[in-house]
Amino acid sequence: MADMLAIKAETLEDVATRVFAAAGTPEDLAAHVARHLVKANLSGHDSHGVIRIPAYVSQIKAGRIVADGRPIIVKEQAGAAVVDGQRGFGQVAASFALDVAIRKAGETGIGGVSIRHCNHIGRLGDYSEEAADRGYIAFVSYGSAGPTSGHSAPFGGAQRHFGTNPISFGIPGKEKRAVVDFATTVVAEGKIQVARAKHAELPPGSIVDKEGKPSTNPEDFYAGGMILPFGGHKGYGLSLVAAFLGAGLTAESAATEGRGGGVFVMAINPRAFADEDAYTSTIDNLASAVEAVPAAPGFSKVLLPGGPEANSRAERRQSGVPVAPDTWDAIAKAAQELGVEMPKL
Ligand SMILES: NC(=O)c1ccc[n+]([C@@H]2O[C@H](COP(=O)([O-])OP(=O)(O)OC[C@H]3O[C@@H](n4cnc5c(N)ncnc54)[C@H](O)[C@@H]3O)[C@@H](O)[C@H]2O)c1
Repeated sequence: MADMLAIKAETLEDVATRVFAAAGTPEDLAAHVARHLVKANLSGHDSHGVIRIPAYVSQIKAGRIVADGRPIIVKEQAGAAVVDGQRGFGQVAASFALDVAIRKAGETGIGGVSIRHCNHIGRLGDYSEEAADRGYIAFVSYGSAGPTSGHSAPFGGAQRHFGTNPISFGIPGKEKRAVVDFATTVVAEGKIQVARAKHAELPPGSIVDKEGKPSTNPEDFYAGGMILPFGGHKGYGLSLVAAFLGAGLTAESAATEGRGGGVFVMAINPRAFADEDAYTSTIDNLASAVEAVPAAPGFSKVLLPGGPEANSRAERRQSGVPVAPDTWDAIAKAAQELGVEMPKL
């Protein structure tokens, strides 16, 4: 594996902001997307970090991302809204939708917002963490389905049909919180990109090649292979939920050919259900009891979901973000094409 570079988060954020701005993104949106990507790196999810910069730039050039697209509310009632992402950056639309969902949850107890015409929204845990920071419970899903589309086959199927269809929950207490955030496939597609950039193998059981044979070689996936749903029929069920919520709650007319997708964001105000102190103390109490479970052989301690990301942020803010040389070169190439000067490392 090639030696990794260690780059300060501020440097990465600055490069990302300038590249997106040079590609026509208004400064505030460019900074928002850059912050999101670098926070994914800091959180240990390099698959959803700066590795995405070249692809996002290509998508802007191809017209798939409208660099200055700003989300708008197109349908609204108490507790529910539909947002149109206007094909801008997905991170901008998702943050906007979360804001609307939290406002509605503050007014009515629960706020559900679907997003149509939405691009890639990055690391879902970012939105659940933001909701938790603001004292709200969150559920976020991003799903798509359709014959021969996506990266994953349904349980028992031998053809691509689903995206990696991630889901995330954020549950805040006072001192503790849980942030659950994962693809409903064994690995996220971005993890395959990272393995490919590092010339590394994938964990066994993650993918099959185009003939359905097990493989650990990232190249087999890009040659038409499929990522498997995690937990067999159970992960498949959750993947289906993400796709059906995303497609159903953004539908403008009946889906044809079994194809569709979208984002769904829900915020819950715990204070609408329980006394604030009783709620936060209960969550802290439950969380501490989980953490107190004795560690199994091979583990040092039981962590709450979201714990590994918080630990990674603390460490990488100090030590810098590891970036594969191939990834840095690809970012430099995208920057150069836009006339953006790269920092000297
Ligand atoms: N936008 C998209 O289209 C898209 C698609 C797929 C995935 N993603 C993102 O990719 C990222 C990675 O997904 P993934 O499926 O590889 O996630 P993953 O397998 O790394 O699992 C992450 C989750 O597991 C928890 N976790 C990990 N180790 C733990 C431990 N020892 N104890 C307790 N909890 C633990 C984490 O806190 C987190 O909630 C996610 O942020 C996801 O949102 C985005």
